[in-house]
Amino acid sequence: MSALTDSPAWQALLAHHREIEPLHMRDLFAQDTMRFEKFSVRSSGLLLDYSKNRITEKTMELLSTLARQCGVIEARDHMFAGDHINSTEDRAVFHVALRNRSERPMKVDGRDVMPDVRAVLNQMRRFTEAVRRGEWQGITGRPIKTVVNIGIGGSDLGVIMALQSLRSYQRDDLSPRFISNVDSSHLVETLRNLDPETTLFIVASKTFTTQETMLNATSARSWLVKRLGSEAVRKHFVAVSTNEEKVADFGIDPDYMFPFWDWVGGRYSTWSAIGLAIALVIGMDKFEEMLEGAHAMDEHFRTAPLENNMPIIMALLGVWYANFFGWSTHAVLPYDQYLTRFPQYLQQLDMESNGKRVDLQGRPVDYSTGPILFGHAGTNAQHSFFQLLHQGQQDCSMDFIGVANNHHPLREHQTILLSNFLAQTKALMLGKTEEEVRAELHAKGMGEAEIDKIAPHKTFPGNKPTNSIVLPLVTPFTVGQLLALYEHKVFVQGILWNINSFDQWGVELGKELACGIVPKLMGDEEIMNEDASTAGLLRYMKRLKKEFI
Ligand code: F6P
Repeated sequence: MSALTDSPAWQALLAHHREIEPLHMRDLFAQDTMRFEKFSVRSSGLLLDYSKNRITEKTMELLSTLARQCGVIEARDHMFAGDHINSTEDRAVFHVALRNRSERPMKVDGRDVMPDVRAVLNQMRRFTEAVRRGEWQGITGRPIKTVVNIGIGGSDLGVIMALQSLRSYQRDDLSPRFISNVDSSHLVETLRNLDPETTLFIVASKTFTTQETMLNATSARSWLVKRLGSEAVRKHFVAVSTNEEKVADFGIDPDYMFPFWDWVGGRYSTWSAIGLAIALVIGMDKFEEMLEGAHAMDEHFRTAPLENNMPIIMALLGVWYANFFGWSTHAVLPYDQYLTRFPQYLQQLDMESNGKRVDLQGRPVDYSTGPILFGHAGTNAQHSFFQLLHQGQQDCSMDFIGVANNHHPLREHQTILLSNFLAQTKALMLGKTEEEVRAELHAKGMGEAEIDKIAPHKTFPGNKPTNSIVLPLVTPFTVGQLLALYEHKVFVQGILWNINSFDQWGVELGKELACGIVPKLMGDEEIMNEDASTAGLLRYMKRLKKEFI
């Protein structure tokens, strides 16, 4: 048994789970009309209603005790103090400094990083304003109309998600495109019909060594040079990175390298200059509003008492289902088309952070860590996987994200959208008993034999827990809040599980092996030193490739 599972708080929760397991939420709601008031919390216009969870007041007390026992508050303070909490890489985890909108200094290794942060924000402002005003021009003197972000993982997912979410803030004459996959189709299809004279490439890579990004950047540069000559690179390529040397080697003017720092993790870097494409497309003011939103959530996380702290509550509820109910999946379901990419962004944030198997001391853990996260926008998701959520045999915890207002004045659409959002969480909580189904069918005049046949199929167990997160409108501020909320939730869960949420060694092995496979795919030599499956697949693919060529 690990120290965590053996601890008094964990053991108390195990015993409490046995009391909660048989209870149905419909009874909990019938017994207590104040559940919404008791189990909801607000922060700067954002609401979390967690009353539709399989919890009582005692559950929340016991979970809070677990959080205290695991040192969540101290760990949070260490993060905000710039301590090297990423222990395997000996780095601070300081993305909160990127969106610090207060006058407070933020120190790493005794040095205030805020002057550097502000200098890069100013650099971004100067550049984005010049591009947006048409003062920064391509090599032939034409203004930029398309920004192509070349990056992958944390250098792509947050940017694409934010720009998709904030599409209504985009100007018609400046639009983003993205190249991430090393598959040439992504590059070719993205560049199709693009006018090189009005295209600006941003090579976004923290390390500037990521295989996919560097190959895509090299091919994009060839595409440009073929059309406009090598002189054009300095007017059509900029970089965002921590690696000045590699950026210069690539041929990008160091004046147009936007730096960030090793204390910004890749999946936490949207707030840094990695967000340059966001600032270009929606404007620096709007980008800074996003930072404001994140800062508001940081302040909530930093100062709200544990029992009213939104990220802490969400983290604890996640642990409640993952470790005590034994559920391994978590769904995130935004009811807003602009937030369609949000679940995909969260997959990296959550699964790369907390998909870990050893604790901070390197010992294998004897409990589940990060969940498998999936999701899609409602109402579309209702017509794909919701059937399983309502009547399947697998349970998962769920976050529904609802948005009260829409950017477009088609009120009927918004009413129907919100009614579906509310109906789904209600249906998942209440379910429908067989008696209710039978009574309904009776009322419709159906015969007993037919009712016997159909009633089990129309019965819903209910008691499926959901969080409801409600925003007033999708704006740069609320998108910033939402992202920061989930970042801190993931952080807290990492503390509870005693794992390092800030490294990602799990993605290294595949990268290494791919390098060894490249010559075997390219060469004509007999395949040696491979397992039978990989060797068989290699031979088969090489044969197909030859036939195809
Ligand atoms: O997938 C591994 C990873 O290191 C991510 O953590 C990171 O976001 C991504 O690769 C891209 O890295 P870079 O920004 O250095 O190109």
